[in-house]
Amino acid sequence: MSEQTPNIVASPERAAEGQSKIEWVRRNMPILQGLEKEFSKQKPFAGKRVLVCVHLEAKTANLATVFAAGGATVAVTGSNPDSTKDDVVAALDAAGLLVYARHGATVEEMRRYMNMALDLRPHIVIDDGGDIVELLHGPRAELLPELIGVCEETTTGVQRAKALAAAGKLRLPVVLVNEARCKYLFDNMHGTGQSVWDAVMRTTNLVIAGKTVVIVGFGWCGRGCALRAQGLGAQVIICEIDPVKAADASMMGYQAMPLTTACRKADIVITATGITGTLRQKHFEAMSDGALIANAGHFQDEIDVIALKTLAVRDEQVREKLCGYQLPSGAWVYLLGDGNIVNIACGDGHPAEVMDTSFSLQALCARFLVGETRMAPAVYAVPDHIDRRVAELKLASTGIEID
Ligand SMILES: NC(=O)c1ccc[n+]([C@@H]2O[C@H](COP(=O)([O-])OP(=O)(O)OC[C@H]3O[C@@H](n4cnc5c(N)ncnc54)[C@H](O)[C@@H]3O)[C@@H](O)[C@H]2O)c1
Repeated sequence: MSEQTPNIVASPERAAEGQSKIEWVRRNMPILQGLEKEFSKQKPFAGKRVLVCVHLEAKTANLATVFAAGGATVAVTGSNPDSTKDDVVAALDAAGLLVYARHGATVEEMRRYMNMALDLRPHIVIDDGGDIVELLHGPRAELLPELIGVCEETTTGVQRAKALAAAGKLRLPVVLVNEARCKYLFDNMHGTGQSVWDAVMRTTNLVIAGKTVVIVGFGWCGRGCALRAQGLGAQVIICEIDPVKAADASMMGYQAMPLTTACRKADIVITATGITGTLRQKHFEAMSDGALIANAGHFQDEIDVIALKTLAVRDEQVREKLCGYQLPSGAWVYLLGDGNIVNIACGDGHPAEVMDTSFSLQALCARFLVGETRMAPAVYAVPDHIDRRVAELKLASTGIEID
């Protein structure tokens, strides 16, 4: 265990296990590996301090080492305690990076780890969900003068940054990585589409074919989840509040209907809205015996887990990461991963090739930020040349040529 991170690394003896996971994803993240070679020569982050606050698993570890190869001092922390992999934390720690995360940390511990990572006084922050940006607008505002900018990874963080900007309260430049085409088309849609079902299948060991699957939210994530559920043989129902998206879902061949009605028919409900309390008591009460519930959105509170637990007359841990709750009606509903982002809490997150495009955007956007003269506090689109470059590298890595 390194001297910098005493008492945090939960399983230092698992460093080798974490290292082999990182090696495996490196083999399958060719774009990022190419950028690592480029950064190793050019050292664009020499003298810079980079904080990475993303779901802390092997692909994120790979991104952190790319910044280190580019000359940065790097601190890493997790954006959700349930997604933190202790073996990967141990591997990063053994490699000498500053790492502050532990699987299953409490909310208070997670905040403490984020603050410890912020003690690095970062120039660049890679944020995932906006928690670091929130700290920088509150208790850690003293760090703003040294901060060059933030790259935001996900829809929820983008929405939070835009809300601050709209209120005239945003105090730093935020590059909206999530809004790059190479992000949402691959990561939110195909990454979530595959990894959510991987997580549901491995956690429940049940079949998807023939089941009625309800997807709540037909945005990029919901679209991917619906597409793959259909491919697995499920009947798919979409619940939306945006009439255009509901009409689109219908034209795509899915049924669209109100959520309470859909819950009566559901074998599996997946939330993907990014909105607190999307699935609530009245929806649980409409569910029939055996229904499975999982959340693909960023925050756990998308499903009102507290209401479910309060409503339940009995509960039972039926499998790892799968808890059953018996409702007053006698029906059992089963919650995956305690409502945490299911593909990471109950699985390994997006496939490595998908995070290759997302994290290559992050690496290039961070380099863009350090190369700019001080940018005004605002939200910024990913420059189109970066989006195109990542797509070109993606095509090259898969041997595809175009006109
Ligand atoms: N699981 C993952 O790996 C992963 C990957 C990327 C993003 N995310 C997260 O998933 C969430 C969704 O992201 P996205 O990119 O799909 O967002 P999006 O904005 O493209 O889609 C969200 C959709 O939900 C709909 N919606 C909102 N409230 C609703 C409600 N009460 N009922 C029905 N529909 C509702 C909106 O109209 C919108 O169409 C965010 O929290 C994001 O951060 C998760």
